[in-house]
Amino acid sequence: MILRKKLMAGNWKMNRTSTDAVALAQEIVVAIGKQAEVDVVVCPPFTALESVGKALDGSTVKLGAQNMHSEVSGAFTGEISAPMLRAFFATHVILGHSERRTYFGESDEFINKKVIAALKHQLRPIFCVGETLAEREAGATLKVVQTQTERGLEGVSKELATSVVIAYEPVWAIGTGMVATSEQAQEVHAFIRSLLTKLFGEHVAQKVRILYGGSMKSANAAELLGQKDIDGGLIGGASLEARSFVELVKAATVAK
Ligand code: PGA
Repeated sequence: MILRKKLMAGNWKMNRTSTDAVALAQEIVVAIGKQAEVDVVVCPPFTALESVGKALDGSTVKLGAQNMHSEVSGAFTGEISAPMLRAFFATHVILGHSERRTYFGESDEFINKKVIAALKHQLRPIFCVGETLAEREAGATLKVVQTQTERGLEGVSKELATSVVIAYEPVWAIGTGMVATSEQAQEVHAFIRSLLTKLFGEHVAQKVRILYGGSMKSANAAELLGQKDIDGGLIGGASLEARSFVELVKAATVAK
């Protein structure tokens, strides 16, 4: 029995106008829009959510956002809420990406509020954790990942925990071409699963998908995706071209 269906998510970051995003989405749909062996999610910028959502209509490719606020509405200039994402039929939302933590000062506490809010509104959080290079070199990787995971998931019920997707993204591997070795990644993924076991019990922990992110490309995908606790990928750079993204989805299809 396959306990965890692989999930491949494209994080388009601050790239593509609405028109360009639709073109990319259409290419992806033509190539893999009917396959159901792997869950596929694309996360365009907010401004392209509606148009990309329409381009995905009738395909198996799902729509995700890259961030949201924890409140439903109110005086939060420039922010977007969970119900607004749901209105565009988004099913996933990336939360706590290291670029949000680093450039926008997002704390574990704020990210935790967002995780809770996303779950409350039937959005699956793709909740990101990961250490910096300095933290890895100081031998603090597992400690950092533990703190981020525990704080980010505080108050999440056992029932809703299986809707959470975790993305382990070593900060030093994001956009740098420096990918974690499959051993380095597997070690942290197994550790995260052991934390989930402590928090939610074995049954739930075995169901939660843990993605790897950080310079994933076709040259390293098969080995990473072949690891026992690596259940997919969160892909930045390689998701901006349909061909490279589709190759990664195909790699996930054959990885067992
Ligand atoms: P990358 O980005 O694939 O370009 O390293 C991954 C991410 O930031 O999610």
